[in-house]
Amino acid sequence: MSDARTDASSDQAQAVDCPVPDYTELLTAPGTVALVVGAGQGIGRQAAHALAQSGAHVCCVDTDTTRAERIAEEVGGTPYVADATDEEQVVRLVEQVLTDHGRLDTVVDIVGMARFRSLADASNEDWQWQFAVVLDHVRHLIKHTADPLATHGGSITVVSSIAALSGAQGNGPYAAAKAAVVSLVRTAAVELAPRGVRVNTVAPDVVLTPRMEQILDPERRAAFVANSPLGRLAVPSDVAAAILFLSSRLASYVTGQVVVLDGGVGARLQYPDFV
Ligand SMILES: NC(=O)c1ccc[n+]([C@@H]2O[C@H](COP(=O)([O-])OP(=O)(O)OC[C@H]3O[C@@H](n4cnc5c(N)ncnc54)[C@H](O)[C@@H]3O)[C@@H](O)[C@H]2O)c1
Repeated sequence: MSDARTDASSDQAQAVDCPVPDYTELLTAPGTVALVVGAGQGIGRQAAHALAQSGAHVCCVDTDTTRAERIAEEVGGTPYVADATDEEQVVRLVEQVLTDHGRLDTVVDIVGMARFRSLADASNEDWQWQFAVVLDHVRHLIKHTADPLATHGGSITVVSSIAALSGAQGNGPYAAAKAAVVSLVRTAAVELAPRGVRVNTVAPDVVLTPRMEQILDPERRAAFVANSPLGRLAVPSDVAAAILFLSSRLASYVTGQVVVLDGGVGARLQYPDFV
């Protein structure tokens, strides 16, 4: 007759006997092929470097030819020019990558930007544009890379935003589209888990990308720094580090997750001080 305590202690013995892996080796990915979409600058450029350092060959995708070629040269990868919001172009891109490199192990989707609008001011065109720029490419990439990724048990990591996780005054269409990305990532994680494909998202607060450097005036930038428990804003390499972890075998039990990168902003209770 089975004794629950005996079963539990034999499980424990197995856990104690679990082989100790080479953890640093689990961060490496020699011989693999990674697709970074929106690789041309900022977070995408850093993600391309991080994956290349792990040993992956990086396919650097951008709408901007010069940017795609420059980052591919920096990381010893291959440049591709494609608009990821266009499903036909995504289909052709994936076919070309498989023709050129024979496999696909890692997908990272960086593409997205905000058109700041209040709900009162946002037009139908604003909503459609925002969902195309933030959501459509994620579903195209998930749909058309799932099969090749399943061959070797790969991963997809998408950049969302903390805007997806709370109200975002003046930025509602972007926040709603990013919330849809989070939902899509969770569904994809569950649907693709039986095929060995993991799907996650990183949700950064403000990141000092080239585009954000142009938008943030010094006063606003100082206000964001003052609001950060870590006392600084994120830089693109902070986000790329999380992408590298999620793409690696270190994260082999992580799927359907939102990794928040906000310097502790969300951990602080927004409440008047007692003392
Ligand atoms: N910068 C921030 O403060 C911040 C904060 C939270 C989330 N995010 C998210 O991070 C991601 C990257 O932001 P960023 O500021 O580094 O972007 P970025 O605009 O600096 O870089 C994006 C790159 O993608 C390329 N690109 C644009 N549209 C494309 C398309 N349709 N197909 C292929 N390539 C395309 C651009 O040419 C560019 O090289 C976005 O999803 C953004 O919403 C940014």
